Amino acid sequence: MFPSDFAWGASTSAYQIEGGWQADGKGPSIWDTFSHEKGRVFEDQNGDVACNSYELWEKDLECIQQLGLTHYRLSFSWARLLPDGTTRNVNHKSVQYYNRVIDDLLACHVSPMVTLYHFDLPQVLEDLGGWKSPGIATLFDNYAKFCFQTFGDRVKLWLTINEPLTFAKLGYEDGIHAPGVKEKGISAYQVGHNLLRAHAMAWHSYDSEYRATQRGAVSLALNSDWLEPLNPDSNEDITATERDLAFTLGWFAWPVFVTGDYPEIMRSAIEHRSKKLGYSGPPRLPSFSKDDPTILGTADFFALNYYTSRKVKAGGDAEQTLCMKSDRDALEFIDPSWPICGVSWLAVVPYGLRKLLKYMKDTFNDPTVYITENGFSQMGPLQMEDVQRCEFSSNTILEVAKAMQEDGVKVHGYFAWSLMDNFEWADGFSVRFGLFHVDFSDAKLSRTMYLYGQEFAKIISKHQKSGQTQ
Ligand code: GAL
Repeated sequence: MFPSDFAWGASTSAYQIEGGWQADGKGPSIWDTFSHEKGRVFEDQNGDVACNSYELWEKDLECIQQLGLTHYRLSFSWARLLPDGTTRNVNHKSVQYYNRVIDDLLACHVSPMVTLYHFDLPQVLEDLGGWKSPGIATLFDNYAKFCFQTFGDRVKLWLTINEPLTFAKLGYEDGIHAPGVKEKGISAYQVGHNLLRAHAMAWHSYDSEYRATQRGAVSLALNSDWLEPLNPDSNEDITATERDLAFTLGWFAWPVFVTGDYPEIMRSAIEHRSKKLGYSGPPRLPSFSKDDPTILGTADFFALNYYTSRKVKAGGDAEQTLCMKSDRDALEFIDPSWPICGVSWLAVVPYGLRKLLKYMKDTFNDPTVYITENGFSQMGPLQMEDVQRCEFSSNTILEVAKAMQEDGVKVHGYFAWSLMDNFEWADGFSVRFGLFHVDFSDAKLSRTMYLYGQEFAKIISKHQKSGQTQ
């Protein structure tokens, strides 16, 4: 059912797995700072050691091989490679580390997909204004060029930024992720703007300086829930759903894939709310100027992170203060028939992925798609025989197959989140998304395959074999 060159992967990110937070000259990142503050993370846990992949990389490689993955998605730590955030000071030990990871993967016939930025800004750059400052785009571009130059002879799939929506909203609106800022209705839009500018600059650099020789592809990983009207016959709910989609997937996908600018519904909703609340400052949703890099067309494929779905109805504008929620004016619900998996936000809705893929095909000009994250968690008493996660995952993969065969969506790969249990941001180690269990109470941090991993391995091997005989 899946072509033989379909990419079967698993994903991780640097801060969530590497540990070695001060090893060999690494600089601190905003997640080091944030997780060291009291009360930020579940039980004040942090990623100082995490899965210790910085020292135990060969164990990760064994996991990758046991699963039979064709691809592995990892992220580079900017603060590990460039401790002061700039190319003036390269940490050569970290270059050796990532070189080893890449070379080992390739020796095992596994293709690396590398994310340049997965939530972990070097703290020194945060101290200079971080993502709120327009100058960050050039610094990111320099870092990206350094990575293309150093690793691009072997890395052919690049993601500039992971989930700008999550980073901007949780980091600057809700304040529950690093850097822990709560400047509602203002900063997330500004940060989102600079993330897009930074992404676009890096894409253009690749396009003009590296593409001809390296022949890789560059995108950014966008996350979205599938959203549908609570009452499909209500025009209000339908409009609220469209608006909600514009504020989530549309916020970043519209500029990159459709017009070069934010969705009109998003801009007018924000302006309407600003007026209604008597806001008189500068426009909250910035505009792209002629000095900005062109945003339209800066993705060689669509990288989607999908976890869950919501039903939507109008009415979120009850909030009388400036905030993204009131701008969106949409209330989201979990359908009571959807099973919840580990964490309260994760309602499992496999058909939602198929619908989202079809929506992306129709809205974003039929792009090539990689599903760069999809996963299921467990919390509480540990289950190695996690039958439910196996079922969720095979049902979801079936929906991907339907999207490809029945709806003609060009899906080229599916990456499970995550290779192994790891530091799940504000939830610390309490939430486990791994295909492998990690024993955090044992100094060896031993990795053991869950049933979920075994089932995923079977799916991969079945399709690889059937692909070979086609
Ligand atoms: C994504 C994020 C990952 C991972 C996952 C599960 O938003 O990119 O780092 O934590 O969610 O919550």
